[in-house]
Amino acid sequence: MPFEKRTHTGFAPGKLILTGEHSVVYGYPAIAIPVNLGVTVTLSSTHGGSYFRTPDARLESILLPFLPTSGVAVSIHSTLPMGKGMGSSAALSVALVRALASWEGKTSDFSTEYEIGMSIEKQFHGNPSGVDHTVSALGKMVFYTKKASGPEITPMQNPPLELLVVDSGEMGNTATMVEHVAKQYKESPETTKEILKNIGDITQTIHEKLLCPILDLPSLGACFTQNHEQLRNLGLSTPAIESIITYISTHGGYGAKLSGSGGGGVVMALIDSPAQHVPTLAEMGYTAYVIHPFVPTA
Ligand code: PMV
Repeated sequence: MPFEKRTHTGFAPGKLILTGEHSVVYGYPAIAIPVNLGVTVTLSSTHGGSYFRTPDARLESILLPFLPTSGVAVSIHSTLPMGKGMGSSAALSVALVRALASWEGKTSDFSTEYEIGMSIEKQFHGNPSGVDHTVSALGKMVFYTKKASGPEITPMQNPPLELLVVDSGEMGNTATMVEHVAKQYKESPETTKEILKNIGDITQTIHEKLLCPILDLPSLGACFTQNHEQLRNLGLSTPAIESIITYISTHGGYGAKLSGSGGGGVVMALIDSPAQHVPTLAEMGYTAYVIHPFVPTA
């Protein structure tokens, strides 16, 4: 049979957790949005065994079992900062499922993307809540609650938010940070429970504010800052994150918080004219992005 050269791609957006990281692991809701950055997976036909065009051995060992045993070469292109709390592994897993479906002449559905995404996310992060790949697969803001019987997912309309996202330059390790909170829960249950409940209450307030047709940026920003204070009390902030938070508050920002697991990763901030701050932050050594909710092109 003649060799048929084929190329198929799949794209999925990354995410930002607006509120509820860590507390979501303990049954409180989280709210996350899909973002205008993401991961594209390209499958090309090749002779011989399937392989990834990436030097990342761990990534290859996790994802290779999902490929046909031969004939597929995989390239990964990401506009997301990797390992910084913007859902790069979740976007990668959903983009791979989409590219593989396209390879077979199909379109993947949400339940396949959710199931495979969860099994890949478990290998990357241990025991994830599942919010990352849910948002990535739905392409919509979600109000997400982890339940023993399965997640409760309420899709919401993407809000007209423009956020400044600043990379602290440090990698946040999700599994390690989730473990850090679990350890605190064991050692100081009363204090930790109270902090998690406070985050749960803040999430409910943010939810109400996001449902308003016109966003009240000062009060939404204040909620983000309160949320950050609780995450800081859990020991999830770092000096770099604090210096970014200080920059935002001293430059007229409405509010800011770490987003994702913490211990590094990104800070998301609500501030007027976010693009104006990108060059100043670059001079301080921080890469910053102007982030909007994802808008599908089709
Ligand atoms: O760091 P990320 O983007 O994987 O987000 C982690 C969010 C946590 O609530 C800390 C963990 C989870 O599985 O939801």
